[in-house]
Amino acid sequence: MKIFEVTAGSNSLAGLSSSERPRPEPGPTEVLVRMQAASLNFRDIAIVRGKYIGGPVTRDTIPLSDGAGIVEAVGASVSHFAVGDRVTATFFQGGPSQTLGSPLDGTLAEYCVFDQSGLITIPDPVSFEQAATLPCAGVTAFNALFEGKGLRPGETVLTLGTGGVSIMALQLAHATGARVIITSSSNEKLAKARSLGADVTINYREQPDWASAVLEATGGKGADHVVELGGAGTLPHSYQCVGYEGEIKLIGVMTLPDGDLSPYPLMFKSASLRGIFVGRRHHFVDLLKAIAQTGIEPVIDKVFPFDDSIAAYEYLKSAQHLGKVVIKFN
Ligand SMILES: NC(=O)c1ccc[n+]([C@@H]2O[C@H](COP(=O)([O-])OP(=O)(O)OC[C@H]3O[C@@H](n4cnc5c(N)ncnc54)[C@H](OP(=O)(O)O)[C@@H]3O)[C@@H](O)[C@H]2O)c1
Repeated sequence: MKIFEVTAGSNSLAGLSSSERPRPEPGPTEVLVRMQAASLNFRDIAIVRGKYIGGPVTRDTIPLSDGAGIVEAVGASVSHFAVGDRVTATFFQGGPSQTLGSPLDGTLAEYCVFDQSGLITIPDPVSFEQAATLPCAGVTAFNALFEGKGLRPGETVLTLGTGGVSIMALQLAHATGARVIITSSSNEKLAKARSLGADVTINYREQPDWASAVLEATGGKGADHVVELGGAGTLPHSYQCVGYEGEIKLIGVMTLPDGDLSPYPLMFKSASLRGIFVGRRHHFVDLLKAIAQTGIEPVIDKVFPFDDSIAAYEYLKSAQHLGKVVIKFN
């Protein structure tokens, strides 16, 4: 079967190439899936550049955590799935260190084998391409909004940038009846975000003091929820514009430390900072239900054919996208 793999020790996109491996056979509790679609996350660029947790991959690894497909065969003890079922895989396959795309082989292969405990049925209205956008970015957005200080209608959500996690957070928050503030480096992307339901848009390049703009837009109160996708460089600004008893959901790692990272501003607002590592299986099940029920359509910016997977990586790296970049299998 055709696959893509990240070569052991890879520290740049040149370490990603197409290759062949034998089609895997499912063990007793495993399911063989013929992949239909996969999607890219910021993490996948970090992995091929050798910048992800633990450094460069130590063996040739099939990349990507996110994918969806059709069950091709099942092991003798599989009870939850049958041939022909539409399925998607969870980011964690077992414990918190067992993540697809590194260290485990991921979804950028014509066929993948998963334990049945690591698969979820895709509800009918959700397409393979849409389902493939959800295991990492969608589940992270869902966990960010509905766990911890769970989002309530009428509250204000601030989300940073217009990448995969942020746009799903915007769509979920809007569908819940929240007021959504979103930032971007691009006015064109902000216009698209408005068409998806954003109430307030702020260009963080034109307004480097975007936290003050958030305070202004909320009458000085600040945001109840901050989906913190920037990381150490944006965190001091998020401290400034999170509201009383608000919650900052610490997710992103895109910026270098900048400003005062002391958490004391949170204390005087009784606000909190919650670390997030994607989410659990039940978050994904609930997210799929929510998407099927609300009719939210995950935003797919561009679809690349499987053979052009390297071009898909280059496109994500260029950060021209809004929402998700998807790969469709032949
Ligand atoms: N902790 C976890 O479990 C978890 C899970 C998923 C993702 N993440 C992290 O979350 C971040 C986003 O991931 P993703 O897959 O959604 O990324 P993505 O689709 O590649 O989106 C990246 C976007 O972030 C925006 N951005 C870049 N620098 C920014 C800044 N200084 N301030 C505000 N926005 C900025 C840009 O939006 P504009 O073009 O609009 O400016 C860029 O297009 C990454 O750091 C990723 O590693 C963490």
